[in-house]
Amino acid sequence: PAHPRTSGNPGTSAGAGDAVDLMDFELMRDPFRGYARLRERAPLVRGTFFGRGTPIWLVTRYADVKTVLGDPRFVNDPANVPGMDVGDIRERELAARGIPEEYAPYILDSVLDADGADHLRLRRLVSRTFTARRVLELRPRVQEITESLLDRLEGLGRHGAVDLMEHFAYPLPITVICELVGIPEQDRPQWREWGKALVALEAGGMAGALRDMVEHIHTLIERRRAAPTADLLTGLIRTHDEGGDRLGDTEMVTLVLTLVLAGHETTAHLIGNGVAALLTHPEQLALLRGDPGLMPRAVHELMRWCGPVQGTRLRYAAEDVEIGGMPVRKGEAVMAVLVGGNYDPRVFDDPERLDVTREPDGRRETHVGFGHGLHYCLGAALARQEAEVAFAGLLRRFPGMALAVAAEDLERQPMPGSWRLARLPLHL
Ligand code: HEM
Repeated sequence: PAHPRTSGNPGTSAGAGDAVDLMDFELMRDPFRGYARLRERAPLVRGTFFGRGTPIWLVTRYADVKTVLGDPRFVNDPANVPGMDVGDIRERELAARGIPEEYAPYILDSVLDADGADHLRLRRLVSRTFTARRVLELRPRVQEITESLLDRLEGLGRHGAVDLMEHFAYPLPITVICELVGIPEQDRPQWREWGKALVALEAGGMAGALRDMVEHIHTLIERRRAAPTADLLTGLIRTHDEGGDRLGDTEMVTLVLTLVLAGHETTAHLIGNGVAALLTHPEQLALLRGDPGLMPRAVHELMRWCGPVQGTRLRYAAEDVEIGGMPVRKGEAVMAVLVGGNYDPRVFDDPERLDVTREPDGRRETHVGFGHGLHYCLGAALARQEAEVAFAGLLRRFPGMALAVAAEDLERQPMPGSWRLARLPLHL
């Protein structure tokens, strides 16, 4: 069956040489076909981006996406482009999001924005918590959290349709990441609201949420310092307080903020998108029910087919580079369009078809939904495990589960680079 979201006119309104506006309504409504058209047009297509004066390059072919993300000639921090004036870029980014200068580091200097030794240093401070082995140790706890959410869902489902986003897809990953990091239970609903404010593209809301989050983390740090526990936050405080250059004040706050936000917003939408995909593809759902061992491969395929992150952070060319035979000049910005790579027919047969048996095995993935290279998603193993446990639990507990609205009426959040359901109403 066709993608439920691709009904209507596909593509963007941009002509052959025009710059593509990432906020273009048609592109946001049907990014799969929209980016496919760009992919066939040229290896590099000019794009304009919310709040940016200068255009960027969009890279949509699988091999080129991997090059941009894997080639050290592309950097995440424009300050690492020799001779580049970054003041201008920062100012524009802050102005676009309505964020005062003093809060700039919390959103512009995270692990995602760092290169080289700084990036490695920040990433290594937390990477041990997210290795495959550590994630596997967490599985029983993820299962326990899932079961208790399913219990509640069952109760709610007796009274009619329930919104799976609200009552399951969000609460599961937010509980998991907050337990890991050490955010107390009573503060978690607040984090959920902050997460929403940050992605809502409302400048004012973002500045307020950022200020509140930063204050909140400072308070937590003080409390944890007085009463250490076994969580990730305690570990970071210890590293910080040992002195040296391993972790600065602002860096510690930014790391916590990044982990909590990256750890729940995206995973919630993989769960939501994945459930919607399975319910609109009964034959795939039946395959999965018939062979629960397929689950890891199914999660890879759902990440490819409807992964929540469709484009990466910008990369900057630190020198002149060629992509697919076209020049990217030193200092120019490039966005790797993950959904472009994931639907590239050069790599994926009949890419619009959902096929839970597509990826050859459960350990390796071909798709680039979690990125690629040094910034490859730190939480990928955790996110996959949460999705596996979530899908398995839902299928087992609610064998008759069905969409409570027509597939075409599922409402998406209009957000460039991101694929998210506003709600997922289900009859359980
Ligand atoms: C990086 C996607 C879940 C933490 C990334 C990147 C992508 C991504 C595409 C690379 C961005 C770039 O290169 O510009 C996703 C998706 C998720 C998910 C689709 C869920 C389905 C998580 C979770 C965590 C997490 C659960 C919790 C720890 C991070 C961090 C980075 C990252 C810290 C930055 C890594 C670095 O810069 O070295 N993620 N992510 N993500 N992700 Fe995830």
